Amino acid sequence: MQEELKQILVEGLQEAGAAATSQELSAVRLKYFGKKGLITQYSRRLGMLSPEERPRFGKIINEVRQELEEYLTTREQELLALEEQRKLESERLDVELPGRRPRRGHPHPLQLIIQEITTTFLGMGFSVAEGPEVELDYYNFEALNIPPEHPAREMHDSLYITDKILLRTHTSPVQVRTMEKVCPQPVRIIVPGRVYRRDALDATHSPIFHQIEGLLVDKHITFSDLKGILTVFVQKFFGEDRTVRLRPSFFPFTEPSTEVDVSCGCQGRGCRICKNTGWLEILGAGSVHPKVLAMANYDPELYSGFAFGMGVERIAMLRYGITDIRHFYENDLRFLSQFS
Ligand code: PHE
Repeated sequence: MQEELKQILVEGLQEAGAAATSQELSAVRLKYFGKKGLITQYSRRLGMLSPEERPRFGKIINEVRQELEEYLTTREQELLALEEQRKLESERLDVELPGRRPRRGHPHPLQLIIQEITTTFLGMGFSVAEGPEVELDYYNFEALNIPPEHPAREMHDSLYITDKILLRTHTSPVQVRTMEKVCPQPVRIIVPGRVYRRDALDATHSPIFHQIEGLLVDKHITFSDLKGILTVFVQKFFGEDRTVRLRPSFFPFTEPSTEVDVSCGCQGRGCRICKNTGWLEILGAGSVHPKVLAMANYDPELYSGFAFGMGVERIAMLRYGITDIRHFYENDLRFLSQFS
């Protein structure tokens, strides 16, 4: 028995010495001192020995146990220290390495234009109003004096959700929604938003685009107020040297109606942007139709006003000399980062 134990001790010491990781060492400890461990088994057998033999073997077992345990502890400390060091080395940081600079985002060019135009009108006492993109036929057409069979609907063909609900084709329905809400208070709003039309995507059309609507309703508002406000806007946005030209036009919800042009940056010399005309069409406008005022509960005898609507993409293209509307929607960073 004594020989056997010595042999076990020698093997145990050898195995502990050979263990390369603290995990391997734990396995060695289990093999000798676990519940069914080799040395544990000897301790159990002590009880079967005669009272004379017991002290002697007890002593030997204790010595073997103590020696192996001490060595296991020493070895464990060695291995843990080694592992700690390896871990530190693998996680070493080079604090002098230049960092990875996170890319800074910035507003989309269309948002920049919307912000800039909105700010200009805020400065003239307008406030921002918004309305739903999924709109009732009533607000998109009927309350704007476009009855069901009106030919103007053809230009505004849209995506219908039901007979009576559609994706709005312009921001003009917000005119009516706002007037209904604040009547008989005066109205002075600017309405940026997304609109939808059944148009195929090409260099100048998109089925989803953006508009900015303006509406001013009060007593004694005339057409010259419209021209004055638009001239301030145009000169702020395009430059002090620009002028505004009004051309007769037609919209069912304004009477009279006008197309508004701004003089081209080429100063009439003729260029590709204005197609040698010297003028750029930027928006539609007019005096609010008495029927529209009346439907929103304003007395057309007392109140008058003007409205205008512009396409944000078009304005942005004129501003930056962009020739294809699709650039705005393709999320190509080579395009977008030019506006940071
Ligand atoms: N809603 C018109 C359009 O989308 C533009 C417009 C707005 C015209 C307000 C006159 C007054 O074409």
